[in-house]
Amino acid sequence: MTASGSIVIEGLRKRYEHGRPAVDGLDLVVPGGTVHALLGPNGAGKTTTVRILATLLAPDSGHVLVAGANLRTHPHLVRERIGLCGQHAALDHRLTGRENLHMLGRLAGLSRAAARERTGELAERLRLADFAGKTVADMSGGMARRIDLAAAFLARPRVLFLDEPTTGLDPVARLDVWELVGELVAAGTTVLLTTQHLDEAERLADAVSVLRDGRLIANGTPGELKRQAGGPRLEIVLRHPDQRRPVLSVLETLALPGITTGDRAIVAHLAATDPLALLGTAVRALASAGVEVEELALRRPSLEDVFVAMTSEPRKHRQEERSFT
Ligand SMILES: Nc1ncnc2c1ncn2[C@@H]1O[C@H](COP(=O)(O)OP(=O)(O)O)[C@@H](O)[C@H]1O
Ligand SMILES: [Mg+2]
Repeated sequence: MTASGSIVIEGLRKRYEHGRPAVDGLDLVVPGGTVHALLGPNGAGKTTTVRILATLLAPDSGHVLVAGANLRTHPHLVRERIGLCGQHAALDHRLTGRENLHMLGRLAGLSRAAARERTGELAERLRLADFAGKTVADMSGGMARRIDLAAAFLARPRVLFLDEPTTGLDPVARLDVWELVGELVAAGTTVLLTTQHLDEAERLADAVSVLRDGRLIANGTPGELKRQAGGPRLEIVLRHPDQRRPVLSVLETLALPGITTGDRAIVAHLAATDPLALLGTAVRALASAGVEVEELALRRPSLEDVFVAMTSEPRKHRQEERSFT
């Protein structure tokens, strides 16, 4: 399964009619059976990339192999080997959730009995109560989203594309989805997902790329990216902002490589050598200075820290507001 589900992208480019390139020379290899997360602020080119890989949009140039099939010469083979969860594209809004899932299961090659069984299983797993009684048109956005996800999990494609699979879902539903992704991957499926949630990438992905303005600005395992973001940090949240001064003088005596402050929050970057000893010293000094602390933690940089550091660099394009929540 390892080789059969790989994704190879070379020099991929796409420019919509008006505007700058949405995907601007993307190179990426996703080994079969792994989970790859595409991160990036709004407008970075994530959806465009996924739509191209799923044969829904033609690229301007580039060479792409999906599960061994050439996207340009054999798009029908690509379509046979992939699943996609995106903009409810596959759902018929006049049918109920159950009718949709049953039909899509049959289209994916499941027998009548298997389609019924898998539909029932997914309805339970994704808590699709009332999915049989309502048409998709009458469902809430969150419910339609979960039907769409269930559709992506019906069959077991070699490659599954998930475009922001958990955006708009509640925390419990997110866990349900993560579990289903884990099962598919354990069974050999390759997953390329886009997400705005760094915890999702951290939890699911073997490797992560960060896209900005259609270009890859970072690529690696979550661990590699976090190591690039520096050593451990001491994070303090004060009960009273007016105690910031004494805390800063305590921290200054420790000769730390860097300190950033907010109103009540203070983050001190620690030298990586002996963070525990420094933490002990800091805690004792803060206690004897009579500082009241709301929170105090020793933390390694998270993927979120990496992301913020990367995307807060000076940028050329300022026209668009880029949010990352
Ligand atoms: N159908 C379209 N027509 C024109 N421009 C588009 C279209 N879809 C996306 N874009 C533009 O392409 C760029 C990349 O968008 P998109 O791939 O949706 O990014 P992301 O999914 O990372 O938010 C953005 O500048 C966006 O405005
Ligand atoms: Mg998008």
